[in-house]
Amino acid sequence: MGLLEWWFEQRDPGLLRGEIEAAYRDYVHPFGLRMLKAAGLDIIEDRREGPYVWDLSGERFIDCVTGAGIFNVGRRNPELAEVLKRALDRFDLGGWISLVRGRAELARKLAQITPGRLQYSIFCCGGGEAVEVGIKLARGHTGRSEIVCMEGGYHGVTGFALPATGREVYSQPFGPLVPGYVRVPFNNVGALEQAVNERTAAVLLEPVQGEGGIRPASKEFLHAARRLCDEAGALLILDEVQTGFCRTGKFFCCEHYGVVPDILILAKGMSGGLYPISAAVFTPEVADFLVTHPFVIVNSFGGTTLACITAMAAIEYMEREDLAGHAARMGDLLLAGLSDLRGRHPDMISEVRGKGLMLGIEFPEESIGPRMSVELRKRGVIAIYTFNNPRVMRLMPTLVIDEQVVNQVLEALDGALYALGHGYSKPSAQGHPRRRPRRRPRRRS
Ligand SMILES: Cc1ncc(COP(=O)(O)O)c(C=O)c1O
Repeated sequence: MGLLEWWFEQRDPGLLRGEIEAAYRDYVHPFGLRMLKAAGLDIIEDRREGPYVWDLSGERFIDCVTGAGIFNVGRRNPELAEVLKRALDRFDLGGWISLVRGRAELARKLAQITPGRLQYSIFCCGGGEAVEVGIKLARGHTGRSEIVCMEGGYHGVTGFALPATGREVYSQPFGPLVPGYVRVPFNNVGALEQAVNERTAAVLLEPVQGEGGIRPASKEFLHAARRLCDEAGALLILDEVQTGFCRTGKFFCCEHYGVVPDILILAKGMSGGLYPISAAVFTPEVADFLVTHPFVIVNSFGGTTLACITAMAAIEYMEREDLAGHAARMGDLLLAGLSDLRGRHPDMISEVRGKGLMLGIEFPEESIGPRMSVELRKRGVIAIYTFNNPRVMRLMPTLVIDEQVVNQVLEALDGALYALGHGYSKPSAQGHPRRRPRRRPRRRS
């Protein structure tokens, strides 16, 4: 059978799962497969729609992982998929050196919707790449080398981004790393004051640490970062790879704080999860560096025609649907429900926190997170702990969830916490065990 038929043919889900797992084990990542299985996350996504994904077997799940903020506009948003299909009827990626119309329009749109005087964009594919661009611009613009970054921060695993990612496991085998990075405790103004000086090129941080355990920056800390950068002639780089594009209840999280960075890093949610694109957006002052160094920060696939058209459509969708406002409202509901759960399971939850629909549940010990993933999966919800802080389970559903889905997530969490706390499932209100979801017929085109 040809590869394409393999994708689209109607197949027995059990056999197909076996084939995919075997290929994954033999050709992709044998240990990764084992880990995913242990955490109950070995779901093979088939259909995707709105807040849901369906496994190959037809079982439906509420996606509370969303690739940490990729699918803000919902899974496989049909409106955006249509735009991408239309674009493919007419265009390919486009030559990287040409004047790409979509790139100009998207950059103008980003200048309009980002705060302050952020104006120019360099496009890439992934978040780490865009962080690299930000760091290079900061070093190039200031002529200094030191990057002040945060304990618990995550900025990707590529060259210039890796030393800023605050967990040894990612970097330890790969030294020597790019030098010149200074790490300070997150939200510690005193430590930041000590670290920022005339050698500092930039302070780099996430307004809400995602992988660090859904930890929002304090207002005091973010304002101090802005002030210290101004005083030292350094740049402020905000990494909004997870927090951007309506996730926290504003279009960009820095708007909650009234702090504008010199360089804003955007990725994940930018094109609604349909085409890779990321960007470093920066001020005219920073752009001066490009006048003297016009072609030193380049790549082949950043800001292609297809990516830019899809991203424009995604942004228009977010604006029209007021996705930020909706995320704020649904986030308030979910957070209130989580606080209530904390009251009912005080031994199982130490804290709940976050902004908008970027929420975290902190457990008193690390082992609870993976076991929660397993229990939640049984209850139709996919969720996972944060990579730099396994005590925290992140809840980052799509931003198109409604009240009913919020309640389903809360019910699943309640059941999972009860099961872990008691060693058996909570009897349902009707006095019979929870029924497994009905298997949906598989749809194949
Ligand atoms: C805040 C943040 N910055 C950067 C990155 C790196 O993005 P990518 O994996 O697309 O390189 C991530 C990835 O999760 C992230 O969460």
